[in-house]
Amino acid sequence: MRLRQDGSLLAMKRRVMMMMMILLDFANSVALPAPIGVSMRSVDMTHVLRWRPLQAACDTALLYSAQFQGEFEQDSNTWLDALECQLVPDAHCNVTEDVNSDSDYNLRVRAQCGSLLSAWTELSPAFNRRDTVLTVPKMSVTVVGDALHVTFAELPRTSIVSVTVWKRGAELQAVPYSMPAEQAVLHVAALQEGAEYCVRAQTVLNARLYSRSTDAECVSITGPDAAWKQPTAVTLTVVVMAMLLLAVFWSVLNCRPGACQDFFHKEPPPRSLDTDWDIEVQVSPEEAELYEPIHVSPAPNADELRMQKADESELKLTVDLVDMIS
Ligand SMILES: *[C@@H]1O[C@H](CO)[C@@H](O)[C@H](O)[C@H]1NC(C)=O
Repeated sequence: MRLRQDGSLLAMKRRVMMMMMILLDFANSVALPAPIGVSMRSVDMTHVLRWRPLQAACDTALLYSAQFQGEFEQDSNTWLDALECQLVPDAHCNVTEDVNSDSDYNLRVRAQCGSLLSAWTELSPAFNRRDTVLTVPKMSVTVVGDALHVTFAELPRTSIVSVTVWKRGAELQAVPYSMPAEQAVLHVAALQEGAEYCVRAQTVLNARLYSRSTDAECVSITGPDAAWKQPTAVTLTVVVMAMLLLAVFWSVLNCRPGACQDFFHKEPPPRSLDTDWDIEVQVSPEEAELYEPIHVSPAPNADELRMQKADESELKLTVDLVDMIS
């Protein structure tokens, strides 16, 4: 009899205890529920832990904190505070610095309102950064002389870029290049002048994870001289134009229509050209026998004729210019 009473008393006590625990739990959960919808968004090796914002009433600011376990912490069953995730107001935080090896990571989040704490919610399944999503690299291709410069913006750390270059129409002879992310620029030199080359690239992580490939970008090689040829041509053109303009101004200033009659008057060839003449060279008596008097006959002299012709065309140009201006 006594034994039975003791037994039922014990059972009652247990029941009361259980009810109190349930009540306490209920009170707690009403106060601040644990975050839900915890997920990881890892793009190009940047890892952001996210959760759904709590719809709980909080007089002060509703803040969140996250912790993580790497391989070592899992073995010792400890948790570390995620560096950028302590008492943050947003429903996400950056855990890139915390996840610094290729092992599996456990992560958990809890909410806080004043001194009230929620329970932890753990990310499931665990996160491994090898599951990051690689985006198509941002590539730009420029031609410098007979070389291609292929540049990339914001490549994921520790990744490599696989670049393929081919001459248009010879895709089967495409040449693959491999460049570490920190190099940022790939130079492909000594390409065929006048030919068109195409470039395509994709990001590779751990020789295992591949981004989609960029579209092919094609450029023409203008040649090694192009770099200086163009500015030189421009400079020359400018100089020639300036000289022409100066010539025009000079003719306008020095050659008003009335005053120009004399200028345009064509002088007859000098008399000396019509006549024969002798040139006597004065020499010392010793040298006398070495030199003979020279006889020059000027008549139809080719040089003279050419000069005369040039004079005429120059004159015509000047007249044209004056006509144009007046
Ligand atoms: C996250 O942190 C890493 C490392 O500190 C940084 O490189 C990256 O830009 C950050 N990303 C965002 C989205 O804040």
